[in-house]
Amino acid sequence: MTLPLLLLLLLLSSFAISADSSAASRRLLHFFSFDFPFHAFHFGFEPDYEPVESHEAVVAAPPPHPRLQRAHSALQAWKRAIVSDPTNFTSNWVGDDVCSYNGVFCAPALDDPSLHVVAGVDLNGAGLAGRLPDEIGRLADAAILHLNSNRFAGPLPDTLSDLALLHELDLSNNNFSGPFPQSVLRLAGLKYLDLRFNDFHGPLPPELFDRDLDALFLNDNRFDSCIPENFGNIKASAVVLANNKFTGCVPRSVGRMRSTLNEIVLSNNELTGCLPPEIGSLTRLTLLDVSQNFLSGGLPESFSRLKDVEQLNLAHNTLVGAVPDWACRLERLENLSVSDNYFTRVASSCRERSGDVVFDDVNNCLSGVIGQKLAAECAAPVLSGFSVCGGLPRSVPLPPPSSLDVRAFVSPPPLPPPPRPKCVPAPRSTPLPPPSSFGVLPPVGGIRYASPPPPLPIFNGY
Ligand SMILES: *[C@@H]1O[C@H](CO)[C@@H](O)[C@H](O)[C@H]1NC(C)=O
Ligand SMILES: *[C@@H]1O[C@H](CO)[C@@H](O)[C@H](O)[C@H]1NC(C)=O
Ligand SMILES: *[C@@H]1O[C@H](CO)[C@@H](O)[C@H](O)[C@H]1NC(C)=O
Repeated sequence: MTLPLLLLLLLLSSFAISADSSAASRRLLHFFSFDFPFHAFHFGFEPDYEPVESHEAVVAAPPPHPRLQRAHSALQAWKRAIVSDPTNFTSNWVGDDVCSYNGVFCAPALDDPSLHVVAGVDLNGAGLAGRLPDEIGRLADAAILHLNSNRFAGPLPDTLSDLALLHELDLSNNNFSGPFPQSVLRLAGLKYLDLRFNDFHGPLPPELFDRDLDALFLNDNRFDSCIPENFGNIKASAVVLANNKFTGCVPRSVGRMRSTLNEIVLSNNELTGCLPPEIGSLTRLTLLDVSQNFLSGGLPESFSRLKDVEQLNLAHNTLVGAVPDWACRLERLENLSVSDNYFTRVASSCRERSGDVVFDDVNNCLSGVIGQKLAAECAAPVLSGFSVCGGLPRSVPLPPPSSLDVRAFVSPPPLPPPPRPKCVPAPRSTPLPPPSSFGVLPPVGGIRYASPPPPLPIFNGY
């Protein structure tokens, strides 16, 4: 029995279908484009699932080869580590035929197509609670591990790095905790990393951004470092860091993602400094959301090159100056929010286009416009220490001071060099977002990517 390749992708990929033109899907297709039939498919999202192939399997199945035996020991250890299984999802995890277990699927091994191996585990939405056992490292043939919307907790086992073929790791909407899992950095083939809606905390290792990931979702955790300076090395198509406590500047290296980046969401962190002009070189960008931070300065003119941008959310920062005409004439623009900043001018074209563009400028400092900040607030020296923008990049060393150095008058006072993070700590803290709820994965500001719901039981016929 052969499952069409595309169907496989639709069901197993964490990428939303709407991204079909994105680099993400292209790379996935590339990954799966070797030509083999996917037989022996077993999806069992209904507890009474009965594999149609069972007769065939009884007659033809050879005794499990060592690679399936290792997978068997991994899955049995995992089952023992599950403390709650409200839908009896793992109730058929008995016996030798791991390929018939709910959520486990097998495919010919990449290095030996005559062997069927456990190519993926998909437990999305099963509501399982427990921890991941060390034995998970024995699932050495798995390319896909999808555990979204369960109640798995604790740190990730270090042995996760033994999954040398892992391509997609979706641990979203669980209760995993601890620092950023170093084991993930050793997964050489990883393209899709989704850790959102967990309880990870602490700094992000810069090495993460030297990986060749296509999509990175870290939103709704408690990460609190600055964004590493090599941020742009990742060359992903989607990067979501929202709803954490990231501090410091948006690294100027962000511009290095110009040939790949479609969507970036940095909202609700504690980011300071200016919008780097390098964002303007991200000409494939369709979604930029930097709302709810402490970003200052003006709107860089380079943003006029964001010809594909549809959603542009700059709300709730401390931005100043004008919203110029070009900002509201961006060709693909659908929704521009500059609300809750300190802008003093808005081009009239922004209101003229209000038929086809959602435009929001409430709570700024626009004279003669209703719903603005009080005059006293607008007159206050807005965050004087942070409003000097467009200066030298931090990484360029300053020349030795001369007696007539104008920079001394325009630069903020020098800060003591922080240990590793090369950015300025946030001046104050935001209230924490409400804790994530389990079950439904809440959306993040307009992002098109969504982890898939558990596949519907359309496999009855297989
Ligand atoms: C799961 O299995 C237990 C014991 O076999 C049974 O009592 C329970 O009703 C089952 N739950 C579901 C949701 O099927
Ligand atoms: C998540 O884990 C923490 C401990 O790390 C625990 O206190 C909390 O109850 C867990 N939450 C859920 C919903 O399981
Ligand atoms: C426009 O963007 C704002 C802020 O991101 C969002 O709250 C709103 O729902 C969006 N509206 C539409 C019609 O997309």
